Amino acid sequence: MRTGIVALSAVFVIGLSVAVMAGEVGGPQAPAKEITIDGKKPARFDHQKHMAVAGVSCGQCHHDAAYQPLSAEAIAALPKARSILCVSCHNEGFAKETLRQRKDIFHARCKECHTAGVGGKKGPTKCIDCHLK
Ligand code: HEC
Ligand code: HEC
Ligand code: HEC
Ligand code: HEC
Repeated sequence: MRTGIVALSAVFVIGLSVAVMAGEVGGPQAPAKEITIDGKKPARFDHQKHMAVAGVSCGQCHHDAAYQPLSAEAIAALPKARSILCVSCHNEGFAKETLRQRKDIFHARCKECHTAGVGGKKGPTKCIDCHLK
């Protein structure tokens, strides 16, 4: 009986770690639909269109507190869903002054790649291409 329970819990633990490795723990996943990045000047962003571009990975935009890129698995395992939001770090309390404002961090990340291009594709650079108004 006791060995049965031990064997069962071993199966459970292995099953759980496989689920964690596959990123199936029900943590934050890339949204399937276009999202609105909602500050004073709302902008649209579509994960699926971006992930379809060759050479784009989660970690090109999402990173941790040590500025290391985050994989989809690492994002799914985040204990707090809200910690994925850029302003959870880039706010008034952020160490580097030039990386506190929404405009600075988003324009740096979005426009840099749209101008330089990735996988032979460039992105749009007119205000209205990203901003809703
Ligand atoms: C490649 C996409 C992109 C382009 C092109 C772009 N922006 Fe933005 N911008 C963003 C994103 C994303 C944000 C963050 C959304 C927000 O804060 O409202 C932002 C934020 C801003 C903000 C700050 C809003 C706030 O809450 O503090 C201003 C102002 C702004 N943009 C003006 C412009 C102007 C003017 C242009 C054209 C010259 C432009 N943007 C072009 C993506 C873009
Ligand atoms: C090209 C940039 C980029 C890439 C690549 C990217 N994301 Fe995002 N993601 C963003 C931005 C910008 C936001 C909005 C953050 C904010 O509002 O602070 C976001 C938001 C999210 C959110 C929160 C959604 C919500 O509505 O609250 C999740 C979860 C997420 N991303 C997961 C992922 C995963 C998983 C991948 C890889 C499969 C990925 N992202 C790839 C830029 C990106
Ligand atoms: C967990 C905290 C955290 C989150 C969340 C976070 N960042 Fe950062 N970010 C950092 C740190 C730390 C650095 C490195 C700062 C430095 O160089 O001192 C950084 C640097 C940057 C830089 C500057 C890169 C350079 O070349 O200098 C940009 C742009 C940036 N982040 C954009 C974003 C965007 C966009 C998001 C959301 C998709 C985001 N960050 C989410 C912590 C975070
Ligand atoms: C790593 C490079 C990269 C980053 C970072 C990036 N983009 Fe893009 N984006 C692209 C490319 C490439 C295209 C063109 C895709 C195509 O033609 O299939 C594109 C297309 C777009 C489009 C037009 C397609 C659509 O969704 O209607 C919008 C809007 C856009 N990006 C917004 C943003 C915003 C907002 C950010 C920052 C939060 C951002 N992008 C960050 C590479 C990037």
